[in-house]
Amino acid sequence: MGTFCCFLTRILFVILIFNCCFQFRSHAQLLPLEEAAIPEEFTNLAFLRELWFFVLNRDFTRNYFNGSIPTFFSQLKNLSILGFLGNRLSGPIPQEIGEIATLEELVLEDNQLVGSLPENIGNLRNLRRLLLSANNFSGSIPESFGNLKNLTDFRIDGSNLTGKIPDFIGNWTKLTILHLQGTSMEGPIPSTLPRLTNLTELRISDLSGASSNFPNLRDMINMGRLILRNCLITGTIPSYIGDLKSLKTLDLSFNQLTGQLPTELQSLESIDFIFLTNNSLTGAVPNWILNSKRNLDLSYNNFTDSSPASCQQSDVNLASSFSSSQGNSIAWCLKKDLPCNGKAKHHSLFINCGGNAIKHEGNNYEVDLSTKGPSNFASIDNRWAYSSSGVFMGKENADYITTNQYDLNVRGAEYYKTARLAPQSLKYYGLCMRKGGYKVKLHFAEIMFTDNETFSSLGKRIFDVSIQGKLVLKDFNIAEEAGGVGIGITKEFNDVQVNGSTLDVHLYWTGKGTTAIPDRGVYGPLISAITVTPNFKVDTGGLSAGAIVGIVVASCAVVILLLVVLWMKGCFGGKDLENKGKIDNAKISAYVLQEQGNLLELVDPSLGSKFSKEEALRMLNIALLCTNPSPTLRAPMSSVVAMLEGKVPVQAPIVKRSSDNQDARFKAFEILSQDSQTMVSTFSQGSHSQISNSSMDGPWRDSSSVSLQTTDETREPSSSSMLLK
Ligand SMILES: *[C@@H]1O[C@H](CO)[C@@H](O)[C@H](O)[C@H]1NC(C)=O
Ligand SMILES: *[C@@H]1O[C@H](CO)[C@@H](O)[C@H](O)[C@H]1NC(C)=O
Ligand SMILES: *[C@@H]1O[C@H](CO)[C@@H](O)[C@H](O)[C@H]1NC(C)=O
Ligand SMILES: *[C@@H]1O[C@H](CO)[C@@H](O)[C@H](O)[C@H]1NC(C)=O
Ligand SMILES: *[C@@H]1O[C@H](CO)[C@@H](O)[C@H](O)[C@H]1NC(C)=O
Ligand SMILES: *[C@@H]1O[C@H](CO)[C@@H](O)[C@H](O)[C@H]1NC(C)=O
Ligand SMILES: *[C@@H]1O[C@H](CO)[C@@H](O)[C@H](O)[C@H]1NC(C)=O
Ligand SMILES: *[C@@H]1O[C@H](CO)[C@@H](O)[C@H](O)[C@H]1NC(C)=O
Ligand SMILES: *[C@@H]1O[C@H](CO)[C@@H](O)[C@H](O)[C@H]1NC(C)=O
Ligand SMILES: *[C@@H]1O[C@H](CO)[C@@H](O)[C@H](O)[C@H]1NC(C)=O
Ligand SMILES: *[C@@H]1O[C@H](CO)[C@@H](O)[C@H](O)[C@H]1NC(C)=O
Repeated sequence: MGTFCCFLTRILFVILIFNCCFQFRSHAQLLPLEEAAIPEEFTNLAFLRELWFFVLNRDFTRNYFNGSIPTFFSQLKNLSILGFLGNRLSGPIPQEIGEIATLEELVLEDNQLVGSLPENIGNLRNLRRLLLSANNFSGSIPESFGNLKNLTDFRIDGSNLTGKIPDFIGNWTKLTILHLQGTSMEGPIPSTLPRLTNLTELRISDLSGASSNFPNLRDMINMGRLILRNCLITGTIPSYIGDLKSLKTLDLSFNQLTGQLPTELQSLESIDFIFLTNNSLTGAVPNWILNSKRNLDLSYNNFTDSSPASCQQSDVNLASSFSSSQGNSIAWCLKKDLPCNGKAKHHSLFINCGGNAIKHEGNNYEVDLSTKGPSNFASIDNRWAYSSSGVFMGKENADYITTNQYDLNVRGAEYYKTARLAPQSLKYYGLCMRKGGYKVKLHFAEIMFTDNETFSSLGKRIFDVSIQGKLVLKDFNIAEEAGGVGIGITKEFNDVQVNGSTLDVHLYWTGKGTTAIPDRGVYGPLISAITVTPNFKVDTGGLSAGAIVGIVVASCAVVILLLVVLWMKGCFGGKDLENKGKIDNAKISAYVLQEQGNLLELVDPSLGSKFSKEEALRMLNIALLCTNPSPTLRAPMSSVVAMLEGKVPVQAPIVKRSSDNQDARFKAFEILSQDSQTMVSTFSQGSHSQISNSSMDGPWRDSSSVSLQTTDETREPSSSSMLLK
């Protein structure tokens, strides 16, 4: 009895110490502990050693421990579980861990461990779960791991491992879960894989090296989630996939699969998600796909027959899924590269990804709030579109847009407060863009991790970005680049060429970074906003403000000139004017050409004497020349231009005296104004080159050089001459 009490006291004592050091917690309650290195003093409490398993066989998942993995654990002979998911452990895995022969679970996922994996881990014959994902290990998986025949769960996503996927994984016949995503390892998928008949979850992605045929998974009848993405798989999709009745997720995207979609796939009754995007599948898109209510992504393939009506049918994404050789009979969005089905007229694009319509620096950023995600294509007014693909592993109902949920002090533009997310692939397209060079700015801010030094601040989001198919950001980590969470960062790409009519920004997860911080399912691309502006001078298809000002000024000048002439001719007021003193043509030629003193009466009195008499005289003479009742006697436009510029002297107008025909005068006016209108409208449709070809394009080429306040008198005549040329 005494011994028992003593034992109880010791247990209580241990719990007390444990509480003081760490705060006691259970599996269910993941309280953040104070930041701490694991205290070595623990091992010195020798008399308690036999009880360590009591506390240590709980895991330390999602804490904030730093430092290296302590070696004293190796002295705890009965240790079976060592769990450190989501901490800051650094350095290599110590050799001593390989000496804990009783170890059944070693969970080091989501830490900052480096170095090669110790050989002697292969001695841990009882090991069932070995979770090493989201660290920075290097080297290859040691041969000795082939001995770990009790493994049921092996995960090593996202480390920079080299070498081929080892054959010995075929010896892990008890394996139910195998994750080898984004490891930098080489294909092919080993021929021993088919021996893992108990697999329920197989995830391999982003292999380099040699391509391979579809691995034989025929006997893996318990398979629930099969992901073989970007694994260089060639050939056809085997029809037995239809017999894997437990299948819920099938992701074969980003491979080189050819041939038809097996009809057997339709017998997959539990399936929720099928991702076949970016392969070379041919033939028809079957009706069962078109009528499916599941999330199916068949975008970017090479289908040829029985074209569906649209790119998004229910939750089926078919964008760009047809061979480009198809004619006009299919919807534009089914064709390769989403060609413009109208005029390619857009030259800029502003999107507030995952957010509301906002105005920033004078630009209207468009709303982008659709919550659909796993297999979604949406196009907005033939102006832009986005395509989102994938399901968040471990959290299938996760959102595809996010806000600043952690009360981060988000600095910078408004658009950083919201973002669009995707687990796998996210494409934004600028549609019907004019050919030419563009500046593309991508705006990012990490708003899904905290900055308060708890495990929620330990997330690492890593993804790649391509623009126009060219990789521009590799292993991009927003928070790292920006210098923290909640801080906006803009990546600028200054010369993006649009050769067709589509601009394509692709964000893509390559299996790297953490996937379980703060919760499972937080990873993949995140983007806050997109700004696209042209590098070329925008000829709006109409006229620039400056050009319009120029035309108005020039037109006014012509009209005023004509009005002056008509007024002088007594066209207004009829008899009344005559009473006031009508001037006949002959007199005007006298007044105008000879009697300069009277000129002052013909120009605007408000000018006083502040005008060049010579120029006024020249203008009036030209006006008369242009309004001669006899069209044949009017000066040709080329001479008028020369005269206006003062290059040739103004010839005295020959005025027909006989029939002072007012109708003819008005006709002259009409003809002139019609002419100018014709010119204006030609101008508005006209190409830029037409303008540039003109020897007098100076004021027209750059809107800023045409101004209402111009005092340069040569400008207006040249403007009007442009109009009337
Ligand atoms: C652990 O982190 C704290 C602060 O975050 C630091 O002061 C300490 O030196 C770190 N310990 C180790 C072993 O890295
Ligand atoms: C290890 O723990 C088991 C119970 O989990 C116990 O039966 C065994 O005696 C322990 N062995 C040692 C060496 O403490
Ligand atoms: C698997 O583990 C059991 C105990 O958990 C052990 O007895 C057995 O030897 C192990 N098998 C191998 C092949 O190491
Ligand atoms: C991973 O480790 C390598 C050295 O092995 C280092 O160059 C690289 O920067 C590390 N990567 C990260 C993301 O820490
Ligand atoms: C992976 O390793 C290569 C060479 O060892 C290194 O250049 C590269 O930076 C590493 N990548 C990461 C993400 O650590
Ligand atoms: C797999 O296990 C068998 C029998 O234990 C052994 O002979 C073989 O070498 C192992 N294969 C590999 C690749 O480790
Ligand atoms: C596969 O799973 C079944 C059922 O859980 C089990 O009976 C069988 O032993 C397992 N096979 C291997 C090789 O572990
Ligand atoms: C398809 O996948 C290949 C290889 O992964 C990639 O280079 C290409 O950009 C992808 N194309 C599309 C349209 O996603
Ligand atoms: C897609 O189909 C077209 C003709 O239908 C063919 O020219 C092209 O090579 C195919 N592309 C691939 C990647 O198979
Ligand atoms: C850290 O931030 C998270 C999210 O806002 C919050 O749930 C948690 O309580 C914070 N922890 C501390 C210690 O401030
Ligand atoms: C666009 O055209 C330019 C010049 O002809 C060429 O250098 C570039 O590679 C083309 N880009 C694409 C994406 O086709």
